[in-house]
Amino acid sequence: YSLILSPADKAGINHVAYKVERDADLDALQQRIEAYGIKTEIQPANTLPFVGRMLKFNLPSGHDMRLYAQKEFVNTDVGSSNPDPWPDDIKGTGAHWLDHCLLMCEMNPEKGINMVEENTKFCMEVLDFYLSEQILVGPENAKAKAATWLFRTSTPHDLAFVGGPINGLHHIAFFLDNWNDILKAADIMSKNKTSVDVTPTRHGITRGETIYFFDPSGNRNETFAGLGYLAQPDRPVTTWDESHLGQGIFYHTRELTPS
Ligand SMILES: [Fe+2]
Repeated sequence: YSLILSPADKAGINHVAYKVERDADLDALQQRIEAYGIKTEIQPANTLPFVGRMLKFNLPSGHDMRLYAQKEFVNTDVGSSNPDPWPDDIKGTGAHWLDHCLLMCEMNPEKGINMVEENTKFCMEVLDFYLSEQILVGPENAKAKAATWLFRTSTPHDLAFVGGPINGLHHIAFFLDNWNDILKAADIMSKNKTSVDVTPTRHGITRGETIYFFDPSGNRNETFAGLGYLAQPDRPVTTWDESHLGQGIFYHTRELTPS
């Protein structure tokens, strides 16, 4: 599984978890996180179903993050021996995997609070994430990060942060292959009277093809297609400024939505 839904009286995210390569990485990362001044805890195997021991801590923003090295592997629907390109029993939009999430982080320049900046620094310095793209705002001599896109794989983002009034969830995104799949996903959403936030378009940032929509609980989800570009540690960071914010987020309308 990629996602666990649990009963709650409001929409939001409990925690986000990433897999590390080796079990020993959890011990090394625990030391680095503690040395940074953030408390950690090791949770025993099966705290989450089918998942090995987990390293639990909070990002500077307070978001609960877990790292684990083992999870029961169930293979894909087409298997790994002479596989067909797609299985016969695709349901709904046929999302392949959970691609990334965007966490909203408190940003209040008047109070000197910028959790986008603090989370980004922590993720890069301690968790070895790389920065692919950023939105910088404010005066020339004091530019502040208003949003950042970070990766550990080779896609433009595995995790992103955007400034907002409070710490919370902006959206989680599921991967589709291509633009045709995005169109079909929008058809399926309309068939099912889904609340669509942003109809099919392209993000300037990451270059992904996208739909934003709300699930019945009120959480914003995204279907995200295309791999954008090959993200590599030595790729120059892409920077967007305030005057190009609209096209950075939604490339076609070049306007932000109120939500
Ligand atoms: Fe996204």
